[in-house]
Amino acid sequence: MPKRFHLAWFCNFSAGEWNHAYAPATPPWDGKFYVEMAQAMERACFDYIMLEDTLMVSEAYRGTAEATLKHALQAPKHDPLPLAAMIAAGTSRMGVVATMSTMAYPPFLLARLAATIDHIAGGRFGWNIVTSGEDAAAQNFGMDELPPREQRYAMADEYVELVCRLFDSWAPGAVVMDRATGTFADYTKVQPINFEGRFFKCRGPLNTVPSPQGRPTFVQAGGSPRGREFAARTADSIIATANGHGGMKAYRDDVRTRAAAAGRDPDDIKVLFLIYPVIGETTEEAWAKHRRMVNGPAFIEAALAAIGTVTDIDFSQFDLDQELPPLTTNGEQGSLDKFAQWGSGKTLRQLAAERYDGGLQLVGTPDEVADQMAVAMEAIGGDGFLVSTPFQRSSRQRVVEITEGLVPALQRRGLVRTRYQGATLRDVLREF
Ligand SMILES: Cc1cc2nc3c(=O)[nH]c(=O)nc-3n(C[C@H](O)[C@H](O)[C@H](O)COP(=O)(O)O)c2cc1C
Repeated sequence: MPKRFHLAWFCNFSAGEWNHAYAPATPPWDGKFYVEMAQAMERACFDYIMLEDTLMVSEAYRGTAEATLKHALQAPKHDPLPLAAMIAAGTSRMGVVATMSTMAYPPFLLARLAATIDHIAGGRFGWNIVTSGEDAAAQNFGMDELPPREQRYAMADEYVELVCRLFDSWAPGAVVMDRATGTFADYTKVQPINFEGRFFKCRGPLNTVPSPQGRPTFVQAGGSPRGREFAARTADSIIATANGHGGMKAYRDDVRTRAAAAGRDPDDIKVLFLIYPVIGETTEEAWAKHRRMVNGPAFIEAALAAIGTVTDIDFSQFDLDQELPPLTTNGEQGSLDKFAQWGSGKTLRQLAAERYDGGLQLVGTPDEVADQMAVAMEAIGGDGFLVSTPFQRSSRQRVVEITEGLVPALQRRGLVRTRYQGATLRDVLREF
């Protein structure tokens, strides 16, 4: 039997592929499309659906919101938490992960929201822990600019410690529901935490009963060494982007080494690599789709504006037919590194065209792509893939291509599960 791997889906609560040939007349703001999509993924036995989020209308490209709003890039984006609750109610086995930024939520509110949704989901909720990466987002929360990465992660360390204390503020056995004495909860087992840190202060206890997972599943995507360290210490699953088999293997090896050094079992962390498969009924059809995508009239501008929004870099300032100069960002450094393919000698135009090859070009029939994924996983060593679509825009057609085309091909090869065993998201991740 080949070693199995995990699958998750990466999307956001956006207008989706609003101008696709088969798009519905109105964008999916009532959430129902995403619930149906999640149900299709659950039939395909995905580990989780991951709802990405950011908190701004970016003006990084050319200093205005024109490209952001014209191409519906990162905006409009609706709040993923109510959607996560809807998806949880409409599914029964697959995990539902939503993004919340440690910059934006007071820790008490986040712990309460996460516990509440974990109950609604019967123990299938996950929190994608992000620190935010854009000045425009920081400015929506009373700051003049984004704090430096070191400080954001120092805050995140303390934040996670605090919310874990809140999750534990109801001791085991606190809920007694004793009809004889008319007692719902034993107050001696529900105690303040009196947390006082460098950045946060919170009395506690949490005013929700303990959630099915105790604490939600933690997902993280650290790219920088500091971010990887945080992920290795905290996450149950890491979502990552890297170039090629070698880059992905190096990333996974690095976080596993860090996890072991922190006293964790590296197998308790499932590292999933972002991919953008392009599927067709024939090889030619798949490549024709890929060509249509990258040669589309607005693709280059949209790809540059999209990478600009998460790196706060205005890529319109660079010559499309030259190599990029060396760049760093206080935003998503990992995404920048993957996009820039430093040292490859490629022009900015080439980099933009390859933006959605995800460092692993997967184009072909379901069987061809399944074979390519098998080879990649073998080379990387584990643990699975985070499947997405360019600009995180989902459409029914793309979901069906994956859930009814690619996944069955993977299942025929024994590479992914055909049924769930675990009840909670953490259990599902640890099935293999
Ligand atoms: C697959 C993937 C998904 C991510 N999703 C989000 C997100 O939803 N919201 C967000 O603010 N950042 C998101 N990020 C950014 C990460 O949280 C992180 O900031 C980034 O990878 C850079 O790493 P660093 O913080 O260590 O520099 C994502 C990154 C990756 C690779």
